[in-house]
Amino acid sequence: MRVIRATDYDDMCRKAANILSAQVILKPNSVLGLATGSTPLGVYKLLAEWYAEGDMDFSETASINLDEYVGLAPDNPQSYRYYMYNNFFRHVNIKQENAHLPNGLAADKTEECARYEAIIRSYNGIDMQLLGIGHNGHIGFNEPGTAFEKDTHCVSLTESTIRANRRFFDNESDVPRFAYTMGIRTIMQARHIVLIASGVGKAEILRESFTGPMTPQVPASILQLHSNVVLVGDEEALSRLQRE
Ligand code: GLP
Repeated sequence: MRVIRATDYDDMCRKAANILSAQVILKPNSVLGLATGSTPLGVYKLLAEWYAEGDMDFSETASINLDEYVGLAPDNPQSYRYYMYNNFFRHVNIKQENAHLPNGLAADKTEECARYEAIIRSYNGIDMQLLGIGHNGHIGFNEPGTAFEKDTHCVSLTESTIRANRRFFDNESDVPRFAYTMGIRTIMQARHIVLIASGVGKAEILRESFTGPMTPQVPASILQLHSNVVLVGDEEALSRLQRE
């Protein structure tokens, strides 16, 4: 694993956006695995700016998002489809037919998971997966205790994740209880992984994930086994990881 130390949130976003942009410039038809949450917002903003300045072209690029809430329509402002559209897709020239998220309204959850895995396979896998990390070590919505060998599946969210995501909803009762997520196996099959983290609140879970034992109790700990992981964190987030 490579650790890239950024001074603060803005610097972290710049470094991560540079890595993603290099991937797209070197391979215009890259398949990007994208993430939601507050951490990647600045990354998407920069990529959109660079597109507006003429430095980026996403016309051949595909994106496959990590996860989506079950039960939320694409036009629900809390859905991840809405987040991606508003924060990234509508600002760049990615083709809508190449921008994938699980369908929160799918009638059959098992079929929806199979459909999503088939999409990933149809692109021959993910070139670069962007990841955030939950305070309990979840990646995507793979909560502690998830078997490492899972593909895309439907999960029941833990109370801590529901509380953490509560800030985006009017009431806690509005926070969905279930979500689709790429599984750990899906994530581990990405050819490159870029994990971004900012703030002291992520320091302890990063220490556990990258220096502690590999265990399903800390889903991100499996990343220790991936041969191409870059952790881009700001000083606060990396404050409990020793410098190499
Ligand atoms: C959510 C998302 C994750 C994300 C995590 C951390 O649960 N499903 O993909 O990494 O939150 O979010 P944040 O970046 O807001 O801390």
